Amino acid sequence: MPTRHIISIGDFDRNDIDRLLDHAAQIDERNYDGNALCGKILAALFFEPSTRTRMSFESAMARLGGSVLSVGSVEACSMAKGETLADTIRVVSGYADAIVIRHPKEGAARLAAEFATVPVINAGDGAGQHPSQTLLDLYTIRQSMPIDGIDIAMVGDLRYGRTAHSLASALSLYNARLHTISPTGLELPANLAESLAEKGMEIIEHDDIRDVISTVDVLYVTRIQRERFPDSASYFNVASSYRITPELLADARDHLIVLHPLPRVDEIDPRVDDSPHARYFDQSRNGVPVRMAMLMQVLQ
Ligand code: NCD
Repeated sequence: MPTRHIISIGDFDRNDIDRLLDHAAQIDERNYDGNALCGKILAALFFEPSTRTRMSFESAMARLGGSVLSVGSVEACSMAKGETLADTIRVVSGYADAIVIRHPKEGAARLAAEFATVPVINAGDGAGQHPSQTLLDLYTIRQSMPIDGIDIAMVGDLRYGRTAHSLASALSLYNARLHTISPTGLELPANLAESLAEKGMEIIEHDDIRDVISTVDVLYVTRIQRERFPDSASYFNVASSYRITPELLADARDHLIVLHPLPRVDEIDPRVDDSPHARYFDQSRNGVPVRMAMLMQVLQ
């Protein structure tokens, strides 16, 4: 049987996504077997900081009766002694039934999958992809409106933001129209924009959020990925260059939802948290049922 890795959102077709989101909705209604993954072990290899992704995978595993093994930090594991990723993955495959990996290098999860003998889930590979985040983003959109045909504005660091890359790819399956607003130099990578356009996606670049705030259905805000900048001067050139405020949202359509994969720095004013548009904390909570559905898919 082929190993069922989840490396890129491109590993899913639309039916696969819809089925997984339906399963997550069923789980959300407490309709699941709490022993479904009894005896199964997930290895969590996080070589970059994580709160939500790591903890929601751990929570998902615990709710299904499974357990999680993890390395505390890069410094605490043999990668710090010079072990290759390939060797680490070969070894960890012998200790667990699946591996979830976050790594600073684009392509690392795909490489891990080549050496693993158990399923690998990509929890973020550098500026590449973040498929589990995309599934929970889609799930959160679907809680408010049908995904088909939405107008979505993506704001912020679309160059390095892997959540934006994965989500844009997935939305090309749903006939969505993509509006992009990013500081100069942080635009969507040209190769990604081209491949989305080839799939028929309409992408419209704007200079100012105010140009689209009254027409879009979803505002997807992202953090500037400071850790991917070559130096701090180039980060400070673009830092704090956009901010979502209640005043800006005054012109939004009633049903507009504001999403953010979190963590936020200063790009969403905390006063927005009480607005009926704010959905980012629901979004992070949705990580648990969605990741439960993903874990059942790869482990059962
Ligand atoms: C995102 C990530 O790691 O790409 N965080 C997350 O998983 N929720 C977004 C970010 O760090 O800005």
